Amino acid sequence: MFSKAIIALAVASLATAHMHLDFPPTLKGDNNPHTKGQADPYLNYPYGCCGQEQPGVCRGHLDLLDTDEGKPVVTWSPGQKANFSLSGHSIQNTIENVEGGNHYGGSCQVGFSVDKGKTFKVATTWQGNCPLRNEGEDPSSQVFDFHVPADLPSGDAVFSWVWINREKEFFMNCASVTISGDNNDSPEQPEPTTTSPSTPSQTSPAYTPKPTGNAQYTLEGCTCECPTETYSSKCDCTCDSPSTKRHLVERKALSMHKRALARADKLNAPARRAEAVAFNSRPDMLLSIDFAGAECHSQGNPVELKFPNPGPDVVEGDGEYELSTPSC
Ligand SMILES: *[C@@H]1O[C@H](CO)[C@@H](O)[C@H](O)[C@H]1NC(C)=O
Repeated sequence: MFSKAIIALAVASLATAHMHLDFPPTLKGDNNPHTKGQADPYLNYPYGCCGQEQPGVCRGHLDLLDTDEGKPVVTWSPGQKANFSLSGHSIQNTIENVEGGNHYGGSCQVGFSVDKGKTFKVATTWQGNCPLRNEGEDPSSQVFDFHVPADLPSGDAVFSWVWINREKEFFMNCASVTISGDNNDSPEQPEPTTTSPSTPSQTSPAYTPKPTGNAQYTLEGCTCECPTETYSSKCDCTCDSPSTKRHLVERKALSMHKRALARADKLNAPARRAEAVAFNSRPDMLLSIDFAGAECHSQGNPVELKFPNPGPDVVEGDGEYELSTPSC
């Protein structure tokens, strides 16, 4: 009885978990192969929550750079189309492994630091609908494409994702990455990601183009087939368990399929070779907002944040909420 009460209390006080960066795996993430010991149980919590001190840039994990735990987890080439994904799943192997929530959207920014986290320059800004409000918490349906800046110098870099939601909560996760290759060297060569066969990973839905021209997906114990035409209106699923609501899974499979087709289209677009705005002239990421002592404060419900300095690559949201800049 006593221990039950303690557990209930612990869960109640921490039941505000949200989303975290799933791919590329974050510094101190549970899915980062270089993490030693316990993962950071607060990766999916807002800054300053739960009686915690402000963790600082990258949740305080920049000291892992140049150590075994901070080894790069992905190699991207300048100018390539890349992606990141978000997850609301609980952080494994920690005491506070509470399931998260996408808060029905917000605004996000991703960017890079090439000076070990002293400064972060914006790569792409999502003005609203990030995370995708209607796509749940699974990383397979929270995938965001962006361009790695074409003039990002080769070498180690820190990739960073920030999120500000309508509850005026600030999140920041970082991953150690390698930037390699010079896309100006051989202009005729397509970017590597378009030529290599897609490797199944935690973050990608099981997408298998079939000789019949159908695409196959496995989800929620069902196997679904979707016709490859972009505007197909239906997928057919066969499910292991008769209690599965098959029409719901078919709807999910269809939206997964549409996203996969849209991504395939985008991946066929050539890598970028030049930038309108040089990397060093891009705006700094918005990192001081909506925690105690921060320089900026967003308006919050019912508006979504409009980043005042979004940089040259902006993804407009769905317009469900009005956008407004913070006061700084
Ligand atoms: C995201 O990019 C990685 C490579 O960086 C790739 O393996 C993966 O398939 C991509 N995911 C999606 C859903 O496009």
